[in-house]
Amino acid sequence: MDRNLAMELARVTEAAALACGRWVGKGNKLAADDAATEAMRRTLDSIDINGTVVIGEGEMDEAPMLYIGEKVGNDSAANEVDIAVDPLEGTNICAKGMSGAIATIALAPKGGFLHAPDMYMEKIVVGPAGKGAIDIDASPTENLKRIAEAKSCYIEDLTVVVLDRPRHDKMVSELRKAGARIHLISDGDVSPAIATAVEESGIDLMMGVGGAPEGVLAAAALKCMGGDMQGRLVFMNNEERERAKSMGIDDFDKVYGVDEMARGEVVFAASGVTSGDLLRGVRYFSGGAITHSIVMRAKSRTVRFIESHHYFDFKPLY
Ligand code: FBP
Repeated sequence: MDRNLAMELARVTEAAALACGRWVGKGNKLAADDAATEAMRRTLDSIDINGTVVIGEGEMDEAPMLYIGEKVGNDSAANEVDIAVDPLEGTNICAKGMSGAIATIALAPKGGFLHAPDMYMEKIVVGPAGKGAIDIDASPTENLKRIAEAKSCYIEDLTVVVLDRPRHDKMVSELRKAGARIHLISDGDVSPAIATAVEESGIDLMMGVGGAPEGVLAAAALKCMGGDMQGRLVFMNNEERERAKSMGIDDFDKVYGVDEMARGEVVFAASGVTSGDLLRGVRYFSGGAITHSIVMRAKSRTVRFIESHHYFDFKPLY
């Protein structure tokens, strides 16, 4: 995998963030998502890749752009790569101007990503310091004990991010009872999953049920950072089981590790749309805007935070 692709991916997420940055707080999540998707799609076609979207905006009949199976990139002779995208992760957050919306993309050699259907996944995520300590089948209390031991700290020192949903009430009660600090989020579980691997973020663990495609994107990031994650698909009905089957999944109880969700020389990038634990959002100044991005490669494990200053006179599209 060409290492310069990582920087190209940062341009892609910057373009998406700049496009939907105009929609922050406007109460229109669809328009924000469309703007990000259109910008991401356009920028992807300027890159020398022969890519196929495997995690995208939906099936071909559901999404006009970046649908599953869509070909992207401008070099059909280049090595084939698979692409996972979420042009705007946290559409509600963006529409309400709340914290933690990002634009994100990951790239892997062909066959590198789990083809996760658009359904739920139970997830548990830690950074490198907690690697090997998590067990999705163990209780929240047991996981906290193991992570505290691995990190040589008290459970009271650990901060756990959980999506604020009624389905998590019991788990949150148990986490609180065990002594952990809880950070409830309204949406957007990719960004805090990545934040578990950034020491200064103050986030130690992310737990609970969220989107499966978001789980694969988080796994791609964790793979580049040496973090750990386990995920198990959550089926709500038979239709979802059939859909998973048609995507090549036949073990419905399987627990996926990072390497089963994101294999090989994965490259990952994300840019902040609104400020959160990981990235700052798009900030405008007269004639331009500043974006904040994270870019990383599994091969080198280099994690780059990039602040870019964009001048609209030279980027008339924005
Ligand atoms: P969107 O960006 O598609 O709005 O998804 C945001 C998100 O909060 C994800 O980060 C999360 O994994 C999932 O939705 C949770 O789903 P639900 O809102 O159904 O609990």
